[in-house]
Amino acid sequence: MAEPLLEVRGLTHAFPLGRRAVLRAVDHVSFTLRRGEVLGLVGESGSGKSTIARCVMNLLRPQSGQILYRGIDICDRRAFRANRRTLQAERQIIFQDSGSSLNGRMRVCDIIAEPMRIQHVRPPRGSYRAEAEFQMRYVGLDAGYLDKYPGELSGGQRQRVAIARALSMEPELLVADEPVASLDVSIQAQIINLFRHLQEEHGFSFLFIAHDLAVVEFLCDRVGVLYQGRLVELAPTASLFAAPQHPYTRALLSSIPIPDPRLERARRPLVFEGPLPDGGTWTEVAPEHYVLLEGGGAV
Ligand SMILES: Nc1ncnc2c1ncn2[C@@H]1O[C@H](COP(=O)(O)OP(=O)(O)OP(=O)(O)O)[C@@H](O)[C@H]1O
Ligand SMILES: [Mg+2]
Repeated sequence: MAEPLLEVRGLTHAFPLGRRAVLRAVDHVSFTLRRGEVLGLVGESGSGKSTIARCVMNLLRPQSGQILYRGIDICDRRAFRANRRTLQAERQIIFQDSGSSLNGRMRVCDIIAEPMRIQHVRPPRGSYRAEAEFQMRYVGLDAGYLDKYPGELSGGQRQRVAIARALSMEPELLVADEPVASLDVSIQAQIINLFRHLQEEHGFSFLFIAHDLAVVEFLCDRVGVLYQGRLVELAPTASLFAAPQHPYTRALLSSIPIPDPRLERARRPLVFEGPLPDGGTWTEVAPEHYVLLEGGGAV
């Protein structure tokens, strides 16, 4: 089995909610991402997916828990400082809405080359511009866009620029937080195919956050299901889709539309009524298939 690249242990983060209350956005979440693996995280809006992604990228400091990247405790300030270069070069993130995450006053070629400039990486193809051009072609963008500004591109093109920028650093870990949610369906499919192709070619480890379960099934080796900040199930993709164990996972899977109109009409989506009770035991019910159980049955 491949060695772990990222280990998240007991990750917990709460945001203040008014004066006294707090909101547990992420509650004792633990998982491991192996080298070369694609791990999906799914869950409804507000379940804590982006909070986890931000903690993994050091964009947010969790209240408790540990995040180890190649064994480096990234939440420990000294360990982070001592390994800053590696951590910043090897981990890249792609956000949902590249329109707002790309600097609108920079040209595409400078946007793509910026991480290399910041990290003082010598461009393997001679110049930063040549490097940007290579990456652009690689993600299926015409080199004619090199001197354009993000505002002159479509949503799908901007997302490709964001991907090219992330790939320019040849990351070990790519975190994508709903990278296609803001795009048209046909463009979504193109970008998802691109991810699959890139991942197969580069073999980077991929934490893929999504709403769309069909995409997750297509792309991911394993999937974790979040509900109200807690991981309720984690399993190899085939096992999760064939035999979901937690009632919330079942409800989530029952919400996937069926392409056949007759079957679709007969489909009865399940409803999961939260909240989850406190506690529960993380139990392996099949090889590598874990579920949060309470007492004798699923929570
Ligand atoms: N900066 C913040 N301040 C206060 N509350 C926050 C903040 N960021 C997130 N939250 C809250 O934490 C919870 C988890 O948010 P998070 O963004 O992680 O969810 P998500 O699973 O990514 O949702 P979505 O699918 O809508 O992107 C939500 O209830 C959200 O309102
Ligand atoms: Mg989010």
